[in-house]
Amino acid sequence: SDDEGGVEDYLFKIVIIGDSAVGKSNLLSRYARNEFNPHSKATIGVEFQTQTMEIDGKEVKAQIWDTAGQERFRAVTSAYYRGASGALIVYDISRRTTFDSVGRWLDELKTHSDATVARMLVGNKCDLETIRDVSVEDGKSLAEAEGLFFMETSALDSTNVNKAFKEVIREIY
Ligand code: GTP
Ligand code: MG
Repeated sequence: SDDEGGVEDYLFKIVIIGDSAVGKSNLLSRYARNEFNPHSKATIGVEFQTQTMEIDGKEVKAQIWDTAGQERFRAVTSAYYRGASGALIVYDISRRTTFDSVGRWLDELKTHSDATVARMLVGNKCDLETIRDVSVEDGKSLAEAEGLFFMETSALDSTNVNKAFKEVIREIY
């Protein structure tokens, strides 16, 4: 049974997770509204956007949830993950520590969601090539080891943002 009520055939929930300041909120705003905020504040609690797209001639709605990377600003974890069929696990290619946290985020995801959830590892801020701290190879091999899709993105210059969301949604669909 489902406690969400009125779930449509092609409505999918996708969650975005990862350390604070990796660019989760900007990936969402770039994708949903084509907006980027260079001075965005840390997210408090949970926000979401619904985005409609066409896949194979069918209308598909994705409800994309964004929460705080900072522990003290996070809302009830189980509610955040409940019903999710896709997840973007985001790190910042210019900050190694955010890549080192990916395992922890994957553990949390596994604890709170279905085994079938479509998972994409996202190395964001690929525009910061000059201060890169995580190689493309490292991203790829972690993704391979964990069975995740992988993509590097930039919310700033839009590289692969639509593609990342679309691939996850396509995988679910
Ligand atoms: P929390 O809400 O605290 O979990 O952070 P967040 O992951 O939502 O990060 P947010 O989107 O707020 O971005 C943090 C900072 O990184 C902001 O100053 C953004 O402008 C910047 N930023 C986000 N994406 C990119 C990107 O692709 N490239 C660059 N250069 N900066 C980015
Ligand atoms: Mg945020």
